[in-house]
Amino acid sequence: MRMKIVGTGSALPKRIVTNDELSQIVDTSDEWIRERTGIVQRRIATQETTTSMAVEAARKALEDAKVDPEQIDLVIVSTFTPDRSLPNTACAVQGAVGCRHAAAFEMNAACSGFLFALNTVYAYFSLGVYKTALIIGAETISKMIDWTDRSSCVLFGDGAGAAVVQMDNESENPYIFVQHADGEKGNVLTCDCHRKANMWSETSDQRETLWMDGQEVFRFAVRKVPECIGEVLEKANLSAKEVDWFFLHQANKRIIQSVAKRLNVEESKFPVNVDHYGNTSAASIPILLDEWKKTGRIKEGDRAILSGFGAGLTWGAALIDF
Ligand code: UT7
Repeated sequence: MRMKIVGTGSALPKRIVTNDELSQIVDTSDEWIRERTGIVQRRIATQETTTSMAVEAARKALEDAKVDPEQIDLVIVSTFTPDRSLPNTACAVQGAVGCRHAAAFEMNAACSGFLFALNTVYAYFSLGVYKTALIIGAETISKMIDWTDRSSCVLFGDGAGAAVVQMDNESENPYIFVQHADGEKGNVLTCDCHRKANMWSETSDQRETLWMDGQEVFRFAVRKVPECIGEVLEKANLSAKEVDWFFLHQANKRIIQSVAKRLNVEESKFPVNVDHYGNTSAASIPILLDEWKKTGRIKEGDRAILSGFGAGLTWGAALIDF
């Protein structure tokens, strides 16, 4: 049994923030950011929210798939930057787009979130519980950023991407995935919850921001991403050369280049849009899929590997056919 992505959509804030603009806020330069990350600009939410972008991306994906919202059985939103704790973002999307018959929940696996949501949907499909799902990665990371920390504030952007996924019993190609976590190494990339002290607290109110040991995360990514892609290829009995596309989480162009080199695959098979949008965490893979699909670069029958990696630590890969 395999699963098919039948429609995609994305939503991005209007406001573009260039590297030059950031160099007026912190001690950085366009040259440093481009060379070390490949990022040229990012979108930053001014009026947009995680929910508003998730809803817009979801509507576009449903339209692209020509699927009626009432056909959707399950809505999952992956995010680490929801607007509210309650109700969860997936319920907000379900209500706004009219997926009246769908169950809805939010999940957080940071930058691996979209991939883990896809894997979760596959598990439901395999059990025969659901047939059609809407999954969304949506983030407003800008609200968690320490805008005085040059080592992290230049890296991230806001946005949302969505996919409508359906069970496809006709194909013999299976959906194959691996997913991993290592909580013991979680301290290299953190973002605490807002804490309001109660009247008995021995601490005061705290609002923590995102913090990252960039070098450690970089080392983790360049080792674990090729490794988990290798696991998927082995399970599928395929070589890397037999795969048409590698849609990796967009964190840093150098990570993508290193993975291509380690797999001995030409870089042209690794779509890149981190230059335009920065790192949008759970939204990066679906935004990229939408861009490649809408520009006609993905052809019917193409075979792709998706790979997400990030905070947790979490990482994984999946093989899917279009
Ligand atoms: O989505 C989750 C996954 N996240 C990632 O995958 C991110 C992984 N990490 C990275 O992409 C890279 O480690 C960074 C882009 C974050 C940093 O690149 P790097 O080549 O590892 O730089 P570095 O941390 O080794 O810093 C080199 C120098 C330092 O100065 P000194 O100590 O050599 O004088 C930094 O202070 O660059 C300095 N630096 C900057 N300089 C100008 C750090 N940030 C900046 C900056 N502008 N924005």
